[in-house]
Amino acid sequence: MAKTLITGAMIVPVDEARPAFFHGDLLVEGSFIKKISEYPEKITPEEGVRVIDGSRLILMPGLINTHGHAAMSLFRGYADDLPLQEWLEQKIWPVEERLSGDDVYWGSMLSIVEMIKGGTTTFADMYFFMDRVAEAAAECGIRAVLCRGLIGVGENSAVALAEGEQLYRDWHGRGAGRITVTLGPHAPYTCPPDFLKEVMALAQRLGATLQIHLSETAAEVEANRRQHGCSPVVLLNKLGLFEHKVTAAHCVHLDDEDIAILAQKQVRVAHNPGSNLKLGSGVAPLQKLLEAGVTVGLGTDGAASNNNLDMFEEMRLAALLAKGISGNPALLPAGKALELATAGGAGALFLEKLGRLKEGYRADIAGISRDLPHATPLHDAAAHLVYSAAAADVRLVMVDGELILEDGELLYLDEEKIKAEAARCAARLLGRTEKDS
Ligand code: NI
Repeated sequence: MAKTLITGAMIVPVDEARPAFFHGDLLVEGSFIKKISEYPEKITPEEGVRVIDGSRLILMPGLINTHGHAAMSLFRGYADDLPLQEWLEQKIWPVEERLSGDDVYWGSMLSIVEMIKGGTTTFADMYFFMDRVAEAAAECGIRAVLCRGLIGVGENSAVALAEGEQLYRDWHGRGAGRITVTLGPHAPYTCPPDFLKEVMALAQRLGATLQIHLSETAAEVEANRRQHGCSPVVLLNKLGLFEHKVTAAHCVHLDDEDIAILAQKQVRVAHNPGSNLKLGSGVAPLQKLLEAGVTVGLGTDGAASNNNLDMFEEMRLAALLAKGISGNPALLPAGKALELATAGGAGALFLEKLGRLKEGYRADIAGISRDLPHATPLHDAAAHLVYSAAAADVRLVMVDGELILEDGELLYLDEEKIKAEAARCAARLLGRTEKDS
């Protein structure tokens, strides 16, 4: 079993049983964190252990991106400054009609490269040609929670559902256990009740969890009230969707009854502050959700509405919005924002033994450089990670005990080729020459 010892690092464990940050050593054995020491206690390397000098690194749990559409990186900067429905209907959906499996593969590879280089070790994804996303994730060594996005209207809904089931059968548990497949009804406004019932029956049969967009815009909630006489959350609850394990993305427009339902039914929430701000959708009531006991993770959403996949930005936005809106700077302190992006994300995606640097947990780790002007001085490592650090500061990434980024360089992926292929796909799709794109 491969063993790696990282010595002398500043460790930010996101573990209540430990200090918020301390100097120490961290030993990985196989896929798991075997031991963590706090100085002056050190771990003596046994024979055959690979030793990495961590003295210039801050080690944190790998970031967990709980909501996104990886291949949409092909549309980065293509349709900005529009409201959600106009953005979707006039810009995104028409170009998505022209997507091929290869486009989705290269767009996903591009996003995965960006995410790994930014310290993200797990990502959730809802899209189509998902077998190609799974292939990309498996090749890259990242952890992934994948679903075929399901639209329940039109002639393709049955085909999509069959593809969702096939994806589960082909990929759930693959990639040495790093790939989880869920079912992905897109949203209440694109999935009528009868279709959701079919999805639930399939989830029951497979034992699969669900991902859905929920109450993202005020207009969507109003339309739901007009059509069904209640909020989307109440509707899904009545239909029995929350009897399943559900990760609900966005949850921006919620009333107190909605929040109580989400808490009671243990629905997990993916909070996407950057995307919600950019599309003018609003700001989710994060503090109320947390106070109600809802498990919340953070997500970037697709790069077409963000426009990057930098989870450090999402952490910072979540913390700053909570403070700015409440007028209370003590809300969502750095340690809590960090927890949302790591352990909270694991909980939001129903992944166990993940999201903390803790003995017995999976060795998904990001190492951030300390050799930077904005990391000097380092009075509080957790505050640094949330308020000062950026994706570009990431030097080391390990997933499931496997090093995939060292000294800021991808160990197994050809970044230049991936960027070139993705640019070629984007140029073809958007009808421009590669030179102009
Ligand atoms: Ni989304």
